[in-house]
Amino acid sequence: MKLSPPSSLVRCSLRLTAVGLLLLAGCSKSNDTTASSSTSGSSAAPAGKTITVGFAQTGAESKWRVANTESLKSEAAKRGITLKFVDAQSKPENQITAVRNFVTQKVDAIVIAPIVSTGWEPVLKEAKDANIPVIIEDRSIDADPSLYKCFIGSDFIKEGHLAAEWLVKATGGKGRILELSGEPGSAAAEDRKKAFADGIAGSPGLQIIDSQSGYFKRDQGKQVMEALLKKHGKDWDILYAHNDDMALGAIQAIEEAGLKPGKDVMVVSIDGEQEAVQAIVDGKINVVVECNPQVGPVVFDSLAKILAGQTVPAKTFNTDHVFDSTNAATEVKNRAY
Ligand code: AHR
Repeated sequence: MKLSPPSSLVRCSLRLTAVGLLLLAGCSKSNDTTASSSTSGSSAAPAGKTITVGFAQTGAESKWRVANTESLKSEAAKRGITLKFVDAQSKPENQITAVRNFVTQKVDAIVIAPIVSTGWEPVLKEAKDANIPVIIEDRSIDADPSLYKCFIGSDFIKEGHLAAEWLVKATGGKGRILELSGEPGSAAAEDRKKAFADGIAGSPGLQIIDSQSGYFKRDQGKQVMEALLKKHGKDWDILYAHNDDMALGAIQAIEEAGLKPGKDVMVVSIDGEQEAVQAIVDGKINVVVECNPQVGPVVFDSLAKILAGQTVPAKTFNTDHVFDSTNAATEVKNRAY
């Protein structure tokens, strides 16, 4: 919604009108349009009452990310919200610029899936000064919490712990680990790395012998795995990949090197993409810790409350599950991404 400055009162009352529309998620009309790559349609809302949300996405580095984008776009479309979408192409500076532009455009709210956790305070202050609420989704940030309304996503620390806990049990606490880490500086990579290391710390027989970044991308996961295989040959036992795309790329490299993933070496991953859960069924991945990308409904429910002046929890975490040979065959049918 484009509002004429300077009246914050007018802005507020229009927001309240729009809140009703946000809450109508389940009542969208059949002619609702799905958001395009730049701006979503708003056919569920009467003319002149649409609210506009800017969404600064990390990029499209993984299938998980594509599902996350789709979740927010489709939920916005259902609710008649105009979504201004920016793909930051994995460049933190693009993302800051996108948020700054949303502030200049006077959007009604901003949603950010931060690439990295640092560097956010100046632009968040600009949004706060402009009275624009900000929701952080997916990856947490290191910033004064008063600068944004809430965080919605998965608990990466718990994910790292769950992966470690499963591995300690499955190996009896022994094995040489290669780690494929995610985007450097991202909460997802930093938390999963630290929590996993903490989780195996009580098992001195489990050692991380090398750790390299594959940037959460399948092609880089494969390339980095090829380099690790050249360096370590067969002198390792376990791959810990911070996401499924890297694990799936690495599996290709492992097979090309003449090893059987899931058997000669164990593969531990995070996300829960259908392809990865299928790889458990096929015996190529041993365990996947879920990280649910489908947070669109929670994001827009929270936004409705925020725009209505209600308080929302500072942090809302998904309930994520663990998939292994005991449940993968049942779960693979239910995977939506
Ligand atoms: O921040 C979540 C991570 O980012 C997902 O695990 C990964 O697949 C994505 O690209």
